[in-house]
Amino acid sequence: MIDPKTIAEQIKFLLSGTNFANLGTRYEGKVRDNYTNGDRRILITTDRLSAFDRIIALVPFKGEILNGMTKFWFEQTKDICPNYVESYPDPSVIIGKECEPLKVEMVIRAYITGTTTTSAWYNYSNGSRNICGNELPDGLVKNQKLPEVILTPTTKGDHGDHDKNMTPEEIVERGLITQEEWDKLADYTRKLFARGQELADKNGVILVDTKYEFGKDANGEIMLIDEIHTPDSSRYWIKDTYEERMAAGEEPENINKEFLRIWLAEEQGYRGEGVVPEVPEEMLVKTAEKYMQAFELITGQPFVAEVGDTHARIEKNLTPYYL
Ligand SMILES: Nc1ncnc2c1ncn2[C@@H]1O[C@H](COP(=O)(O)OP(=O)(O)OP(=O)(O)O)[C@@H](O)[C@H]1O
Ligand SMILES: [Mg+2]
Repeated sequence: MIDPKTIAEQIKFLLSGTNFANLGTRYEGKVRDNYTNGDRRILITTDRLSAFDRIIALVPFKGEILNGMTKFWFEQTKDICPNYVESYPDPSVIIGKECEPLKVEMVIRAYITGTTTTSAWYNYSNGSRNICGNELPDGLVKNQKLPEVILTPTTKGDHGDHDKNMTPEEIVERGLITQEEWDKLADYTRKLFARGQELADKNGVILVDTKYEFGKDANGEIMLIDEIHTPDSSRYWIKDTYEERMAAGEEPENINKEFLRIWLAEEQGYRGEGVVPEVPEEMLVKTAEKYMQAFELITGQPFVAEVGDTHARIEKNLTPYYL
């Protein structure tokens, strides 16, 4: 892993965003800058970290790490489900098919946890024993493994909207997707997650829960879009320390953005309202280390950082795609 000094030095090259005039129509998501041109979509993963639906900080090397993990997982799962990717022209960039996103987010969970209002633990601890149509037994404790893996789909809220939990029946009744599409998505989701759990486990990591997005390409084929099994879309815990921490009543050791979220909530009292507290350099470096640790553990490969001007590198690598 890279030393903290090198990480700190990269702070001057943090990628806050891009504004390329000649790549297509630009749309800025929370984390990625998107450019579309006909049936092509270019996704540039920036260093933005979002939590509580807000941009909290810029984290050194986060763009490369996230994109690298997505690449790893797309390659590990393409036998299960087709994905939209055509090429990886830069460590932070994916070029792929422009799809029509299906209006549900396929959330799948193996453990009962979470802090937000859509999380399984939030609902369970407030007395609910049915989450998105899944019956849960009494007596579960936070962070415990569920008797079986559950699907807890949400609406894909329009930009800025919060997602809402739904049952498969509601999804189909509302006409968000058809029953046939639901069946296909549910099947893909379970198989993708099973592959993720299996591979993570081999590398000493627990894939706790995740979220997939699917879309239809120009031919109407359903495929996986967006990102997959990144620390932004998934929760990962360290396997080795899970049992002892549970026994001691402690939170599992996580390698995802929960780390900064807990620091914000518990040490800064920030839960999404008002001015975002400034994240000190030391925390940025620690957060970068978490993301790198996640990359290395999960992929089983060393993270090779490209120190230097990220923006200039991307601009150069995308030259062949200028309109
Ligand atoms: N192949 C694809 N075709 C169409 N849209 C896609 C594709 N892959 C990803 N997307 C969309 O591109 C955006 C990626 O940017 P990002 O993840 O930063 O956005 P976000 O802030 O999470 O989401 P939102 O746009 O809903 O606010 C998401 O809106 C995602 O749904
Ligand atoms: Mg997203």
